[in-house]
Amino acid sequence: MDVTVRLVERRDAAAIRAIYNLEVTESTVTFDLVPRTLDEQVDWIDRHSGGHPAVVALGGGEEVVGFGSLSPYRDRPAYNPTVEDSVYVRRDVRGNGIGRILLDELVRLAAAHGFHSVVARIVGGHAASTALHEACGFDTVGTEREVGRKLGRWLDVLLMQRML
Ligand SMILES: CC(C)(COP(=O)(O)OP(=O)(O)OC[C@H]1O[C@@H](n2cnc3c(N)ncnc32)[C@H](O)[C@@H]1OP(=O)(O)O)[C@@H](O)C(=O)NCCC(=O)NCCS
Repeated sequence: MDVTVRLVERRDAAAIRAIYNLEVTESTVTFDLVPRTLDEQVDWIDRHSGGHPAVVALGGGEEVVGFGSLSPYRDRPAYNPTVEDSVYVRRDVRGNGIGRILLDELVRLAAAHGFHSVVARIVGGHAASTALHEACGFDTVGTEREVGRKLGRWLDVLLMQRML
């Protein structure tokens, strides 16, 4: 599949929401518990249209097959040089290098926007996301133990980081 990447636009809201909400309701890869409404997804796009960008991966026919974003890492202002990444690929096209294309582009954008490092917070045992981040130059920082709870399970968070 030929894949291109561009900055997110409001018209991508429905496709992004469909990819994301499946993981909200069926998996532990996101710690969100309630699916996003279309309005919330549009708000999310608006918040990721400036200094903290989001990108979409387009497959053949311009359909959105994945997305990724950079978000502020923590609220307190001394954390401003750090961003947290997020990457989601549509289930039927995983394992084709699309996550890699998205995360490489996010790392490029983070450097271009003047950030100092990118942090990933990955649910414990998530082999695909851990491998993706390793492939894109992230190192493991450590594990927060049983900091989350979802679908009746305690969840660890693996912290990975790439300096820019
Ligand atoms: C994590 C995710 C984005 C990976 O996207 P993808 O398009 O399938 O990944 P890619 O095909 O680009 O693979 C990237 C690397 O990870 C490896 N990888 C992918 N899936 C893997 C798996 N299930 N197990 C082990 N390694 C895997 C690939 O071999 C590749 O490594 P390489 O470049 O050294 O060969 C995708 O699985 C996904 O959307 N998961 C649900 C959302 C999610 O968990 N996001 C991350 C939240 S922290």
